[in-house]
Amino acid sequence: MKMEKVFKILGFAGSLRRASYNKALLRAAYELAPEGIELEIFDLEGIPPFNQDLEQHQPERVKEFKAKLREADAILIATPEYNYSIPGVLKNAIDCASRPYGDNVFAQKPVAIMGASPGMIGTARAQYHLRQCFVFLGCFALNQPEVMVSFAQEKFDKDGRVTDQKTRELIRQLLESLVAWTRRLASPR
Ligand SMILES: Cc1cc2nc3c(=O)[nH]c(=O)nc-3n(C[C@H](O)[C@H](O)[C@H](O)COP(=O)(O)O)c2cc1C
Repeated sequence: MKMEKVFKILGFAGSLRRASYNKALLRAAYELAPEGIELEIFDLEGIPPFNQDLEQHQPERVKEFKAKLREADAILIATPEYNYSIPGVLKNAIDCASRPYGDNVFAQKPVAIMGASPGMIGTARAQYHLRQCFVFLGCFALNQPEVMVSFAQEKFDKDGRVTDQKTRELIRQLLESLVAWTRRLASPR
């Protein structure tokens, strides 16, 4: 009997907040992942501010983050929007994992994005800034579906569960598209 290899996704949110909507999106993705997809969620807590003087001696938490990114088949980022861009916590983690020069673990990795905000634009501006970073990182961004969850307070319950069915369906589609995108990159027609 041929056993299908488990497809590994590493997910992380650009928020350290305990009741983060974006962490909640990742938990929903974990729940909604189709069979054969394993989503591991990494918390960015403990990743110190990047200092290029120390990049040859990276902290253990950064090494751990990089190792998990390296072994993942694909990456899923849930980003909040801060001041029309991505939060510093997220940018810092990305900077840490892309260094030192020649050891950028994002290179050639398939990546998908989602994001939630109480505002009406649902992190669109932050997501397009994040896509700009992907250009230099050399990762392969999934274009669609775009998961931009606006008015988040109406779509999650008090325990941080996504209750909005359209959002749940979009997250499920995002996971399926990320797997299809990764397989297509591995064996292009
Ligand atoms: C410093 C800061 C800047 C923010 N800027 C924006 C913004 O530009 N657009 C937006 O929709 N929400 C903005 N917000 C509100 C966040 O979307 C909201 O706090 C959200 O819950 C953060 O994501 P999280 O729940 O995953 O922590 C901002 C919040 C903070 C703390």
